[in-house]
Amino acid sequence: MNASHAAAHPRDPEQRPPSQRKSDPSPPTAAPAVERRGDVWHLRSYQAVRQVLRDADATRQAGFNAELARRSSLRQPVLFQDGAEHREQRTAIARFFTPKTVDERYRTLMTELSDALVDDLRAAGGADLDDVSLKLAVEVAARVVGLTDSRRPGMAGRLEAVLSLERLTAAAPAKRALGMLVAQARMWWFYLLDVRPAIAARRREPREDVISHLLAKRYRGVEILIECITYGAAGMATTREFICMAAWHLLEAPELRARYLAAAEAERHRILHEILRLEPVVAHLYRRAVGDIEVEHDGVTHSIPTGALIDLDLRAANADPAAVGEDPLQLHPERELGAGVQPAVLSFGDGAHRCPGAFIAIQESDVFLQRLLRLPLEVVDPPQLRWNELIESYELRGFRVAVAVG
Ligand code: HEM
Repeated sequence: MNASHAAAHPRDPEQRPPSQRKSDPSPPTAAPAVERRGDVWHLRSYQAVRQVLRDADATRQAGFNAELARRSSLRQPVLFQDGAEHREQRTAIARFFTPKTVDERYRTLMTELSDALVDDLRAAGGADLDDVSLKLAVEVAARVVGLTDSRRPGMAGRLEAVLSLERLTAAAPAKRALGMLVAQARMWWFYLLDVRPAIAARRREPREDVISHLLAKRYRGVEILIECITYGAAGMATTREFICMAAWHLLEAPELRARYLAAAEAERHRILHEILRLEPVVAHLYRRAVGDIEVEHDGVTHSIPTGALIDLDLRAANADPAAVGEDPLQLHPERELGAGVQPAVLSFGDGAHRCPGAFIAIQESDVFLQRLLRLPLEVVDPPQLRWNELIESYELRGFRVAVAVG
């Protein structure tokens, strides 16, 4: 069926308070919850998006250039795997991500790093928060992955260069070829200085990290490189952006900031989850239907045929009143979510590919923000909002803060 349906809104749009979503300043539109445009299906309701994310048998990963990458004969990174191979990989790496492991193994690192970064910021009188959050996010995820033996400082910058590449599937052939060349040069640099030394160190002495696990599974150097870049995009870039976004909201809302600083951990995490719900760092996920899928909205059944590309609009799904209640574009940490709805709603995805690093991301952000926001900080320049096409993510740059004097 090629029908579309307007998403249900419980209140007249005129009466709704203005949106507090910083990552999308345009006024909200009542786009259809299920819409087909050519071969692409756009899903915007919480139920439909979650259903497709959970239907691992009828879908394949189609985001992050996955379909381009699959043309090679190399072993695919976890994000691009599907089916039994993917399940096996997730089971094997789960031990690096449990709350217990994160608490025992990474909390001290997060605390020491955050103390050092906040001390530096205080001593300098200010900083670009996007630089500070990059350092933190890269260091923490690097420890999980095992990127700890670089031949030169500056891994954060090298990774940033690798990740600043565009989505190439839609580009003209010449642009695509050039883009691939630049991408390969940057990746090679990252491989030589960061990945290869890490592999050599773990061949001598395996550790409890992702690279050691991949070596035990006989992954080749280039395959480990691709996995490291995946973690760079999925773990480092995302957390960096979220920390800036959370800091921006909290710095501009003195009452919420005071409440956050006075709260116990559970409430602090609730506030951070609500910011992430409102501002999902990854705004769209994509899947290719490998079987027919039926989704229902407002009593109408839509049949998505095999072969269709499915655009899962997380920004819309996270603001679906049926899942998150009234005023979905307001920041309300105390909002009551529907039964079974995760605290950050779909910002960490759902189903087989759901983010394994969710707990790391929230704990790390909290450890840092608690320290940062105790400083008498002022926003000198609010961040400029940009868009990263590869990750379908907002980027906040030039976020200058200063320590107030007197
Ligand atoms: C606020 C921070 C983060 C956000 C918003 C985020 C978001 C996501 C989302 C939406 C997915 C699902 C992708 C899909 O279904 O196609 C994902 C997957 C993934 N994330 Fe995160 N993530 C964050 C932090 C982290 C961290 C800190 C790590 C690791 C240290 C990490 C590692 C991964 C990995 C390895 C995957 C792929 C899992 C798979 O495909 O099975 N993420 N993330």
